[in-house]
Amino acid sequence: MLTLIKKPTAEVLSNAAELLRQGQPVAIPTETVYGLAASAYDIDACRRVFEIKGRPQDNPLIVHISDLNMLYGFTKEVPPLALTLAERFWSGPLTMIFKRKDIIPAGVCGGLDTVAVRMPDCDPVRQLIRLCGFPLAAPSANLSGSPSPTTARHVYDDLNGKIPLIIDGGECRAGVESTVICFTGEKGVRILRPGAVTAEMLGEYAEVEWDENVFKQPEKDARVISPGMKYKHYSPKAEIIIVKAQSVQALAEYLNARRGEGVYAVLYGDEEGIDLPRIDYGVTPTERAHNLFAALRKTDELGARTAYVRCPETDGIGAAVYNRLLRAAAFRVVEL
Ligand code: TXA
Ligand code: MG
Repeated sequence: MLTLIKKPTAEVLSNAAELLRQGQPVAIPTETVYGLAASAYDIDACRRVFEIKGRPQDNPLIVHISDLNMLYGFTKEVPPLALTLAERFWSGPLTMIFKRKDIIPAGVCGGLDTVAVRMPDCDPVRQLIRLCGFPLAAPSANLSGSPSPTTARHVYDDLNGKIPLIIDGGECRAGVESTVICFTGEKGVRILRPGAVTAEMLGEYAEVEWDENVFKQPEKDARVISPGMKYKHYSPKAEIIIVKAQSVQALAEYLNARRGEGVYAVLYGDEEGIDLPRIDYGVTPTERAHNLFAALRKTDELGARTAYVRCPETDGIGAAVYNRLLRAAAFRVVEL
């Protein structure tokens, strides 16, 4: 199959809507990462998405809507707190979990009786959803296990020949996937996956708790609320090792002692005195979120065998970066 990469003109969006109506998956840009979309009401089309990505059947998809009223068509209860959060954070990188109506096939949600929903902050995609008239189920548009795609080129590298169309919306703004939350009561939410809507931001509207598996490896065979937590994720071919250092000097000493063929350092960019070939991923927490997945993909392009990554801050959006890095590193962390 020929895979076209097209800018989101009116004609391209109309063609994309037609493909989606026919059950063909289409890659879409969003403000977080690129998604691989299919009608959330069409189990056959969604099965194709699982197949193309090589995604485990029990890992549920996120359903994307263009307008709030769409939500009532396929969820059973919308708690008042959800409406407060929707008003504040939609459109935007916040995914909320609701009880599912049967119009969303169980297979779309990994067999769960819930559905995860978000409204992307990306005009062409919301236009596309309106053209379709149905919500779009869309996991990240990478092969399962590899770093999420933040450019149309990343999607092409993973899915060339497997899908007819990639809508090119440029580089994704946030660079990490949406924050995923579930409700724990009238006032409470639990963060299942951190993202650009941070715990601090949610804390202004709700009591916030963290799921225990956000920063640690779930026990083998554990029942997790969000099945995505238990899978190997975001992994380039290189062995990724996170380095937590008290000072740049300590970091430099540790890294310089490990120079060797195929050994790279993934750094903020302002460190001096480090003699390894380096990939810089950003001096501020927002830049690091924006560049993280491209940096992980870069280790593969360079043929890295091992990449030591300077540990990001772990508050604010840094929590999202650290959560993804831990999985890319298979939880290998060196503390100096
Ligand atoms: O920013 C994003 O959320 C991107 C873009 C494309 O919108 N999508 C994305 O999808 O990251 P994906 O499939 O890569 O990640 C979905 C995550 C998984 O960790 C999954 O376990 C969780 O959301 N999830 C989905 N439905 C769920 C549900 N009903 N209950 C609990 N967790 C759910
Ligand atoms: Mg993903």
